[in-house]
Amino acid sequence: MKQDQENDQSGNEGTEEKEPQRHGELVLKIGDRFGDCTIVSLLGSGAMGQVYLAQAPNGRKYALKILHPEFARHNTGMKRRFLNEAEFAMTIRHRNLVEVRDAGEEPEKGLCYILMEYMPGGSLKDMIEKEGALPIEQAISYVSQIAYALALAHRNGVIHRDIKPDNILFSADGVPKLADLGIAKFLSDTQNSTLTMKGHILGTPAYMAPEQMMDSHHIDARADIYSLGVVLYEMLTGNRPNEGSTVMGLLAKAIKGEPLPDVRTLRPEVSMSVAYVLSLMCAPKPDDRPESPSVVVDLLSRAEVGGLILPDGSDKPQKDAKPSFFSRLFGRGKGAT
Ligand SMILES: Nc1ncnc2c1ncn2[C@@H]1O[C@H](COP(=O)(O)OP(=O)(O)OP(=O)(O)O)[C@@H](O)[C@H]1O
Ligand SMILES: [Mg+2]
Repeated sequence: MKQDQENDQSGNEGTEEKEPQRHGELVLKIGDRFGDCTIVSLLGSGAMGQVYLAQAPNGRKYALKILHPEFARHNTGMKRRFLNEAEFAMTIRHRNLVEVRDAGEEPEKGLCYILMEYMPGGSLKDMIEKEGALPIEQAISYVSQIAYALALAHRNGVIHRDIKPDNILFSADGVPKLADLGIAKFLSDTQNSTLTMKGHILGTPAYMAPEQMMDSHHIDARADIYSLGVVLYEMLTGNRPNEGSTVMGLLAKAIKGEPLPDVRTLRPEVSMSVAYVLSLMCAPKPDDRPESPSVVVDLLSRAEVGGLILPDGSDKPQKDAKPSFFSRLFGRGKGAT
């Protein structure tokens, strides 16, 4: 694994890395004012900071992510990169991307923040924890919708780098949206490696492409396709592939180029076509994966209606298969970019 030692460009190389506060005290208190908004509650905390529910004077609700003060306090280069990434995310809009409304540094408290669309429907992680494996059609619909958003991000030169069920959130009407676009790049630049920071794991290795586990700096859009494939596996089975593996175990598998277990072992009713597309998405070598998320959408929609013939001709077209709700809604491959 690459233990990249690049220093921050601010010349702050003598700064000691501090463990970010993960759960500890609240950076903001309930009832505090933040800009025009009032803090209503803490929604949760992650690798980068705390997320609050905030309400504007007109009653609109937002999710307000505050960068851990430790990140920003010691290192102006980190702050700059964080703001660059957040400002870039503000320029990309898609039905399946959590919209970033504003980002900056609040002058009074000097806190870096991202103001986002509030997603009251919870995360895909919550949904899988509660319901277990999802209906196959629903899982394919979610993956396809996220793939559309990802196609737009990739066209704009952004790799997400941290696709996982925690970062797929639902709107009030159940639309899945990808959160934290561009943020993982900031974290990866900041921490120099996926596994540094005094032993902390940044990102979730279980979803990472093998090449990302080995060197998180030199990856391309196909690493996102791998992670999306792992999310599909988890939706279809209710389990992560390699559940219970240690990080070192995952790394050993990455080095050996071991493929994921066959999804049909745990969910036999998944068609061979869909299982095949999943195996392509999670191919150990990036060259063997679909080249873009649009190709993933196309392959999945063809697999669903039995229109995909496997290389060995083993999966016969299923004549009685009906197009899914998603295929009917958007048309096969329509809207894919
Ligand atoms: N836009 C949002 N609307 C509603 N809840 C959100 C929103 N963004 C984040 N959350 C919630 O806030 C909590 C913290 O999110 P955060 O993104 O910081 O961490 P994470 O997604 O768990 O991990 P990571 O730091 O790797 O992204 C999570 O429970 C998440 O579901
Ligand atoms: Mg997140």
